[in-house]
Amino acid sequence: MPLDTWFPLAVYYHDLSDSALHKAALTKAILDLEASGSEPRNFPEMAWTGDLHGVERIHTDPRFSWLVSQVESHVINYLTELGLDLSQVDCYIQRAWPVVSRPQQEVGPHSHNTAHVSAVYYVAVPESGSDAAGCLTFFDDARPNEVSPGLGSENTDIVATWNYLNQDQALYLPTEGRLIIFPAKQRHGVTPNHTEDLRISLSFDIVLTAAPGHAAGAYEFLMPPPTHWRRFGNHRSS
Ligand SMILES: [Fe+2]
Repeated sequence: MPLDTWFPLAVYYHDLSDSALHKAALTKAILDLEASGSEPRNFPEMAWTGDLHGVERIHTDPRFSWLVSQVESHVINYLTELGLDLSQVDCYIQRAWPVVSRPQQEVGPHSHNTAHVSAVYYVAVPESGSDAAGCLTFFDDARPNEVSPGLGSENTDIVATWNYLNQDQALYLPTEGRLIIFPAKQRHGVTPNHTEDLRISLSFDIVLTAAPGHAAGAYEFLMPPPTHWRRFGNHRSS
């Protein structure tokens, strides 16, 4: 019985070969940034995320330059695989921040609405390669095969067998040294850290714009380059 499936979500991952060399220095830099950040705003059951605490520009911090260059080259690989003509596109790291997940902490479902591509790198993962320290979970909000919307709700038992045609989540085991890249709009979260140690990762938000000189027909679909923008005058001055 032929049965085709269509419209895949593309999630890229790569294990960075030099990760072990950088683990100690990255961990120290992240924990130092956490200690110097603003007063904690996260709920106790939620991981500490730099973007909520004034630590969202690690891409400009030289302590992270190795990883920034890795992110850049792998995002280019990813976008190339997606079929883009990158001679017409500029890419920017818009913001980048650490996430520190202590025992039993998680990251609730969300998407990165101000970016186009997101990346996460696992600096330190206890029990790496297992689900113990919390899985990155992608949620399928399109549910193309849920023929009666809501049929897969946890309030029903009508879906008798979960399989690849009705799955609504995809989980990635946290793996030290791994970089994962995905569309920023894809809703995701992280399951609780059930180990006794810290899971430390870094998140990146990347924006695509049209490259200067490639305006024809593009700007309705791709942001013009920021160098073409004009900021309002002195509306903030009194
Ligand atoms: Fe996220």
